Amino acid sequence: MSTQYQKGHLPDPNQEQQPPGAQHQMDPAPASTKLPTEDSGYQTYRAAGKLEHKRALITGGDSGIGRATALLYAMEGADVAIVYLPEEEKDAQDTRKQVEGKGRKCVCIQADLSKGEECRRAVDEAVKALGGLEILVNNAAYQMVQNSIDELSEEQWDHTFKVNIYGYYHMAKYALPHLRRTKGATIINMASVNHYIGRSDLLDYTSTKGAIVAFTRGLSNQVVGDGIRVNAIAPGPVWTPLVVATMGKENLSQFNATPMGRPGQPSEIATCCVFLASQDSSFISGQTLHPNGGTMVNG
Ligand SMILES: NC(=O)c1ccc[n+]([C@@H]2O[C@H](COP(=O)([O-])OP(=O)(O)OC[C@H]3O[C@@H](n4cnc5c(N)ncnc54)[C@H](O)[C@@H]3O)[C@@H](O)[C@H]2O)c1
Repeated sequence: MSTQYQKGHLPDPNQEQQPPGAQHQMDPAPASTKLPTEDSGYQTYRAAGKLEHKRALITGGDSGIGRATALLYAMEGADVAIVYLPEEEKDAQDTRKQVEGKGRKCVCIQADLSKGEECRRAVDEAVKALGGLEILVNNAAYQMVQNSIDELSEEQWDHTFKVNIYGYYHMAKYALPHLRRTKGATIINMASVNHYIGRSDLLDYTSTKGAIVAFTRGLSNQVVGDGIRVNAIAPGPVWTPLVVATMGKENLSQFNATPMGRPGQPSEIATCCVFLASQDSSFISGQTLHPNGGTMVNG
């Protein structure tokens, strides 16, 4: 486990998968609850009861950043519901077992979030099973590398927007009536460093991530007066199934190209999700955090 944090260490680029990707097939396994130490080792996240009595709905919660968030939330005292695609049932059940191992509830909901009605059902099922909702983490995403706009089909363009931004709109819209019922509710939207650097081989995805930052700002201005905070996170490269299933060998072999010389682990993004969901970030709304290994961004 410790080698994956070492500067310059790269995972084997030959482990390509088909989308949406499976965490249980990744080598090395992504770190969900372990965090890097100064000496390139790791230590388990230390919880402090920051989310006691909270209930969170996390899309894409079966794997990667979503799973790490579900686990850290559980360690902080929250019950969670995770949404995922049918192909990801094994990863979802692994997440459920790990959350339950931390003494919290984990509700598993299969749904295709590119469809508005499925988003509505996912919210309804989560609220019914958890008994209410204080935290929405819009984290699901689709991406597929296409080097040129000529190769980027209208079908892919549509699908990426349907999952990455329509899905976030629908989830927020259906969750807000429930979030308004409690004090200190939060929405966290997963953006990406790619919006800030203008990544050229993920044009559709990069465009949706820019839309997510704008959506976060506008929605924050709409609901901050109701006591609901809305923020975004824009991670740099993180070792997750999305990467293995969509980036190709060439990109995987450059996966350590950050100023820190290494990719991030899902746990290092999940700590931001804990911060933004908890009262530690009580004076922050409409903002974006940048856990990206040191890349400078503006805007
Ligand atoms: N891994 C990275 O390098 C990186 C970098 C920046 C941002 N992000 C963002 O982090 C978030 C989580 O991704 P991850 O890297 O942890 O990968 P991941 O593969 O673990 O998670 C992506 C999830 O999206 C969900 N999803 C995709 N299409 C869906 C659909 N139609 N309906 C329902 N769910 C669907 C899947 O359940 C999948 O688990 C995404 O928003 C991604 O854009 C990741």
